[in-house]
Amino acid sequence: MASIARAHPNIALVKYWGKANDELIIPVAGSMSMTLDQFATTTSVELATGNDTFELNGTTADAKATGRTTAFLDVVRSLAAEAGLDTAEAHAKVVSTNEGPTAAGMASSASGFAALATAAAHAYGLDLSVKDLSRLARRGSGSALRSLIDRFAVWHAGTSDETSYAEAISAPDMAMVSVTVNTQAKKVSSRDGMVATRETSPFYQAWIDTTVTTLNEMIAACAAEDFTRIGQITETHAHRMHAVINATHPPIRYLAPVSWQVFEEVTAMRDDGLEAYATADAGPNVVIICRPTDADAVAQRVATFGQVNTFLPGPGAHLVDVA
Ligand code: PMV
Repeated sequence: MASIARAHPNIALVKYWGKANDELIIPVAGSMSMTLDQFATTTSVELATGNDTFELNGTTADAKATGRTTAFLDVVRSLAAEAGLDTAEAHAKVVSTNEGPTAAGMASSASGFAALATAAAHAYGLDLSVKDLSRLARRGSGSALRSLIDRFAVWHAGTSDETSYAEAISAPDMAMVSVTVNTQAKKVSSRDGMVATRETSPFYQAWIDTTVTTLNEMIAACAAEDFTRIGQITETHAHRMHAVINATHPPIRYLAPVSWQVFEEVTAMRDDGLEAYATADAGPNVVIICRPTDADAVAQRVATFGQVNTFLPGPGAHLVDVA
């Protein structure tokens, strides 16, 4: 019997960059995101004998990806053991399909671990709340915990496994227009980039302090349904994240020249009265935030820079089927 779950990526407006606890994936500050309505990952988990296996998009995954999946399943198995379930020793066959580009800054690890957490918890017989599923997904990839949540999520940084979780926050309706300038896997993973930033960037403490303040400002802007303020906070904060990363030694650059051109174009849009703001994760792709009614106009303005997709707020991870 397979448990199947579906989850979508999320894009942070207030970013997570840096861990206070590497093993439990407790962040140095909270973050806030929108869950997308496309580029889903669908994952099936079936208990099996023998080793854990992981198939991604029709091919057996490489040793690194399989190792991350097994490490995550070990967390699920330890929860099953704590709950006294006889599934605690079982291995699993994991089959995953990604509808979006993998490892190119479009948060495929988020949808991947959110779907895996949801399907694996069910397969192993764990009955977890959304909050507890978010805590579990966090162990796979920090940002994955926000993909458990419908539409908009806040990750409360917390200081322990129990207190570091995601929950919904209400925000005004908005669209995200992504500009995929490069679909190749990035050279420095976010995991390695975060460690390098902590160890070598002189601006790290300032980044932590400012992110704490920024998240509070963002929560206030969401409560006030102030789209302009949300956009301004998002764009400034994205530049701060890339600044602290750029200041590592040796330097890490996730943005490419074309990414900067997109940021320039977004500034030009605002000058023309088209209200839009830009952000970018640990990769060269840029995501533009605008009102849903402006999404087509924004998409047209950036069509020459890369592949353009328009997203609305989407659903949190959920079980789709149990065959
Ligand atoms: O969860 P990770 O390890 O893939 O890190 C995600 C980091 C960013 O995407 C750059 C920011 C974020 O909050 O999603």
